Amino acid sequence: MGSVIMGTGVSVPDNVVTNHDLAQIMDTSDDWITSRTGVKERRFVDPGVGASDLAIDAAARAIEDAGLEPSEVDMLVTATMTPDYIAPGIAGLVQAGLGLNHVAAMDLRQQCSGFLYGLDLADAYLSTGRAGHVVVVGAEVHAGFLPWSRASWDRVLGDDSVELPADDYTRNTEHRAWSVLFGDGAGAMVLSAGDSPSTGVLGSSLHTDGESFELILVPGVGFKERPWVSSDQLTEDGHLPVMDGGGLYRRAVRLMPEAALEVLEQTGLTLDEVDLVVAHQANDRILEGVRKSFGMGFEKVPSNIAGYGNTTAGTLPILYDELRKAGRVARGTVVCFAAFGAGAHYGAVLYREP
Ligand code: ACO
Repeated sequence: MGSVIMGTGVSVPDNVVTNHDLAQIMDTSDDWITSRTGVKERRFVDPGVGASDLAIDAAARAIEDAGLEPSEVDMLVTATMTPDYIAPGIAGLVQAGLGLNHVAAMDLRQQCSGFLYGLDLADAYLSTGRAGHVVVVGAEVHAGFLPWSRASWDRVLGDDSVELPADDYTRNTEHRAWSVLFGDGAGAMVLSAGDSPSTGVLGSSLHTDGESFELILVPGVGFKERPWVSSDQLTEDGHLPVMDGGGLYRRAVRLMPEAALEVLEQTGLTLDEVDLVVAHQANDRILEGVRKSFGMGFEKVPSNIAGYGNTTAGTLPILYDELRKAGRVARGTVVCFAAFGAGAHYGAVLYREP
């Protein structure tokens, strides 16, 4: 406990895809997406750009912001559900790309809660003296997940001269419930050992509801299959996510506030003392539920989902970086980070800016 956020950094790709662009390749509308999710646009990387590339860029910015040299970093934690390779994870690539020493570099697979778990892990190492400076980065390139053809990509990226085959439109529409939610991006923080238990990370409450494992998952490829991937599985779309949107929504609006109240009780603080709730940006209606449950408004439970969509492990550090740079995190500001996502992993971390 007591670990302090010394620097933050963000990396988002340049390609912006609006809801209107999506409406050209599937049966959807800006009105549907905006009213159900709050998303107006999202960003996507070019082919060949991986989560590791965004992670390196975001983490390098955070290290510079913290006023450190890469050689001073003692540990790296990366979180992504869209790694460059199935195995190994991106931690080694990010470590080498940043020019860190041969420090421990770990991959977390906690999806939307990946960054939150990373914060807690970093704090555990820092507060026990096993590290002095830890970089935590959440990065996603969901573009590769999307079941869109080359023609679909050309159209959403602005090439109106491309003819979209009717089958492509049908297929894109079949997957519209989840594909409109996601975007690419990365955010990073540098945490350093603090010198007071009453500032920095004050406490955490992390949970996993394994019984909700199937709320969102990629069902068809994996190492219990033999072989782990086959053309049949791909034909059946086993490599694409299956999502129970309503189930996720109901659990997220209940469990994020529960975890937040738990960490407040643990640390002896009250809801009134919380200045900012930086919650996972999956859907603005979920955030509305959190606002309602806490009796707070947009100012205290902010959202930037309109500009980025759900960047999974990237949402918390991207939003926090924005708030910090907008001057919203003054000395003494109490921030409650909260997340819920696939796994189903969820929780909250409480932080006071020194
Ligand atoms: N555009 C237009 N219509 C659509 C779209 C779309 N993009 N998607 C679905 N619809 C249609 C459906 O087909 C359905 O039509 P029907 O009534 O004719 O059958 C209708 O809209 C309503 O569909 P629902 O699924 O009931 O819509 P709902 O209001 O539940 O909203 C949504 C769906 C936005 C997915 C919502 O449930 C949600 O956001 N849940 C949370 C999801 C989430 O948090 N995901 C992130 C976690 S992921 C992670 O951890 C990696």
